Amino acid sequence: MPAAPLRLGLAGLGTVGIGVVKIVQAEAELIAARAGRPVAITAVSARDRSRNRDADLSGYAWETDPVALARRGDVDVFVEVMGGHEGAAKAATEAALAAGKHVVTANKALLAHHGQSLAEAAEAAGLSLRFEAAVAGGIPVIKALTEGLAGNRMKRVMGVMNGTCNYILTRMQSAGLPYDQVFEEARSLGYLEADPNLDVGGIDAGHKLSLLAAIAFGTRVAFDAVELEGIGNVSIDDIRLAEDMGYRIKLLGVAQMTGRGLEQRMTPCLVPADSPLGQLQGGTNMVVLEGDSVGQIVLRGPGAGMGPTASAVMGDVIDLARGFRVPTFGIPAAQLVPAQPARAATPAPYYLRMTLVDKPGALAKIATCLGDAGVSIDQMRQYGHEGANAPVLIVTHKAAPDDLAHAMARFAATGVLTGAPVAIRIEEV
Ligand code: HSE
Repeated sequence: MPAAPLRLGLAGLGTVGIGVVKIVQAEAELIAARAGRPVAITAVSARDRSRNRDADLSGYAWETDPVALARRGDVDVFVEVMGGHEGAAKAATEAALAAGKHVVTANKALLAHHGQSLAEAAEAAGLSLRFEAAVAGGIPVIKALTEGLAGNRMKRVMGVMNGTCNYILTRMQSAGLPYDQVFEEARSLGYLEADPNLDVGGIDAGHKLSLLAAIAFGTRVAFDAVELEGIGNVSIDDIRLAEDMGYRIKLLGVAQMTGRGLEQRMTPCLVPADSPLGQLQGGTNMVVLEGDSVGQIVLRGPGAGMGPTASAVMGDVIDLARGFRVPTFGIPAAQLVPAQPARAATPAPYYLRMTLVDKPGALAKIATCLGDAGVSIDQMRQYGHEGANAPVLIVTHKAAPDDLAHAMARFAATGVLTGAPVAIRIEEV
């Protein structure tokens, strides 16, 4: 007797949802062979039924309410690709788990805010909650961490996980354009989320980092503890000068467990221009995983879009069809320990840019502030200038963030600075 199909209820018919429909329809045979049983969509839901979606949905039952879809008797797996961390997405995911359905979601915000309670509900009911598509689009990073690297104690997880920000930063660099102009360009190309601050404020990437940190370090998701700084203050001057010194600026996420607790930050950083992260162009994502046994793994690929995100959803769906089960965050949710958040204190070199009055002793005063705080200068350049102000660039040796902050707090009192200094961490990758 042929195996019974795995029946999907698909909530959300935007780019990702239609991508899932296309793969299910075009690759039915391949999927059945790989999964050992057919995978079929039985019902769908979206806000607007009348919209032309460039896909044949005529064989599927239609539900206006995703909660009703989640509860249908002919649905085994609820696929949530609606987005939003409250409201319908949350209610429907909870309803699906309560009704005994597995859930596959692309919703990073939902899991960053409610991952613990949803994973506990799923596991208490013997169900799977899977989210490969939520982090770095088509890159199978959740599988890499929960399966391939399961024998490692993870040391550090890093990544460029917002394609829009990477597009903006690389375009600024390659075209020599200021942030505001490239932001508008990204908006006109449709790259920005409905709320652009999710992208450029680092929130979307911060959601993703918090999910990876939970798996890597066995801690409950702690999105609120991610130190977040977006790219809105990255100037074309810094991009140019960083390039001059052999660096590129990236919105880089870093999570690592230290003796003081879990450091998680998503902030603009300098990385060596010739490193894999420095070479990353446009909307592409990159995740760097460091384990004690394996060393460093670099995963690079598309972080968004119809095909890549649907590819990740289908990887999870096929695992469920095969009967393969992994706890949502790699170990049972009840065993995840609360993260003890630690403010970033790992020492690093820093890039400092400032403008000084061009008078004898000005530079010495700044050097003294740094020296008194225990911050040592590695490289320094004063750029050619006309007039009374001198642009100065300093790269420090490794310094503790608090020591640097202490030095910078004393800069103002020197009276030699014109304008605010800029400090950007240089991440050793
Ligand atoms: N807006 C995101 C990005 C994709 O630009 O990478 C969805 O997380």
